[in-house]
Amino acid sequence: MGRALARLMAERGDALCLLGRNADDLQRSAADLAVYGDGSAVPSVPCDLEKPEYFTTALDAASEALGGLDTVVVTAGIFATQEELEADPELAERLLRVDFTNTVLFCEAAKNTLLAEVGGTLCVFSSVAGERGRKPVIIYGAAKAGLTRYLEGLDHKHSANGLRVVTVKPGFVKTSMTAGLQPPPFAGEPEGVARQVLRAIDRGTPVVYAPSPWRLIMAVIRALPRAIMRRVGF
Ligand SMILES: NC(=O)c1ccc[n+]([C@@H]2O[C@H](COP(=O)([O-])OP(=O)(O)OC[C@H]3O[C@@H](n4cnc5c(N)ncnc54)[C@H](OP(=O)(O)O)[C@@H]3O)[C@@H](O)[C@H]2O)c1
Repeated sequence: MGRALARLMAERGDALCLLGRNADDLQRSAADLAVYGDGSAVPSVPCDLEKPEYFTTALDAASEALGGLDTVVVTAGIFATQEELEADPELAERLLRVDFTNTVLFCEAAKNTLLAEVGGTLCVFSSVAGERGRKPVIIYGAAKAGLTRYLEGLDHKHSANGLRVVTVKPGFVKTSMTAGLQPPPFAGEPEGVARQVLRAIDRGTPVVYAPSPWRLIMAVIRALPRAIMRRVGF
């Protein structure tokens, strides 16, 4: 989804800097984005969500490459099934650290960078998995629930200071993360989600369900009594 969003931004002429952990992937994506944009080189900066000690350095380098930042988008994250996480406590610890603790620490650094300039937009991908405790995504959902609450608090504290927080809650989207999983009804494509997210960034919409039917689906799921949630498999 991050690549699809970056392409849309490049197409309309936004100046971009890519952050990621794999140097070869970054170079490939930067070359791809130069084609979608006006041909200018797209800078990239190494940043690994498992190395929080470099978050500020990476953001400073991105800011320097672009002459300042007005928007930071965080799409990085990892997924594993509930069965895999229950069978492997180390994997569970890593997922909780990457998807919650270190994502929050990255957002703290990004928030400080944006507020030190003139404010701006922090757009972060959480998940509908954080809306309700659900059997197939107990641990991943807990990480995303924590992230969603953190982003809500950040919005409450800093909206008056010029920080716009956009929390994206994807439903099921067909990406490398969900490859091999059976797509449910209303599964989305990255390009459609990217269009929705870009609109939300431009308007400063605080919460985006993508694809949109997931707003209604989750409203129903949030309303289900616990006794039903115990019986159903989703
Ligand atoms: N797809 C869905 O159905 C869905 C649903 C709900 C929420 N989400 C959330 O949406 C976001 C985007 O997911 P996606 O579906 O687009 O998945 P994706 O294609 O797998 O993208 C996730 C990205 O995160 C990067 N990443 C993983 N660990 C990292 C680390 N330690 N440091 C830096 N980057 C790291 C990956 O980079 P590498 O290529 O280096 O591994 C990958 O580019 C994620 O936060 C995900 O939890 C997705």
